[in-house]
Amino acid sequence: MDLSATIGNFKFEHPFLNAAGVMCQTAAELDQVLGDDYTGSVVMKSATPSPRPGNPSPRYYELPSGLGTINSMGLPNEGFDYYMDYARQKQTKTNKPIFFSIAGLTHDENLAMLHQLQDSDFDGLVELNLSCPNVPGKPQTAYDFEATQSILTEAFAFFKKPLGVKLPPYFDIVHFDMIAKILNQFPLAFVNTINSVGNGLAIDPDTDTVVIKPKHGFGGLGGPMVKATALANVNALRTRLNPDIKIIGTGGVTKGRDAYNLILAGADLVEIGSQLMVEGLPVFQRVESELAAVMQAKNYQNLTEFRASLKALD
Ligand code: DHB
Repeated sequence: MDLSATIGNFKFEHPFLNAAGVMCQTAAELDQVLGDDYTGSVVMKSATPSPRPGNPSPRYYELPSGLGTINSMGLPNEGFDYYMDYARQKQTKTNKPIFFSIAGLTHDENLAMLHQLQDSDFDGLVELNLSCPNVPGKPQTAYDFEATQSILTEAFAFFKKPLGVKLPPYFDIVHFDMIAKILNQFPLAFVNTINSVGNGLAIDPDTDTVVIKPKHGFGGLGGPMVKATALANVNALRTRLNPDIKIIGTGGVTKGRDAYNLILAGADLVEIGSQLMVEGLPVFQRVESELAAVMQAKNYQNLTEFRASLKALD
């Protein structure tokens, strides 16, 4: 069975990646994901120009009954130069295409990091994160359609390497139409949907308190509780975006059938976030073999045979 996938000229022998933010902040963590036999590659922690410690702890919490996770990490990261050094060092030693994620706190920080990437010999894919919900006082760019149009217009005026965007979930058909209309104006290599469902709240019944410290307990939701939202966003964008914009489906994957569903809805690659936190690296082999079993039962030999072929009811 062939589980490979492509984005532009980049080939992935396995369709699974870590979701940005999970097991990807330090070189030791990145090495683990990159080195795993069942990952297509690694997505590095979203970088800011300078290192950041992130928000105070507790800042990540697993909800009971496997519902999912809530986090407000606040962009802890080692800074742009660290990830540039890591990627440049590794890209000569692996044929897995590395994803360099950037999340500037301002428009100008994003453009400055894109200039540095353009001027470097980094030869992987760049993911511009327009959807971090956890920095106090900084709204998610991709919920501001004018700001999104503006950053992409300025970026593509000079940026010529493969570039994608990480999007937050949208919840209205008109918003799917609006964001797709903007994205279709640009030669994007991919869109990654969804980031966490922003600003949820969880309560500990024993203490009657919130469960994470930053932002009075408000944080991004992930895991099974966001699965239907992820599926809807992948499908809504696949049916609206130019066919040459590939889609990375992220959100709520805990088993092979979840990945199958995202691919059926149009995903080219699939990322695992919360479940990688919960289960660790073995999740990649497990979910891949479960995906292969679903395909086997349906007599599919590769992902293209069923990708984006979800049907509506007559
Ligand atoms: C963080 C969370 C996100 O969802 C994101 O896209 C970037 C950063 C964080 O809290 O660190």
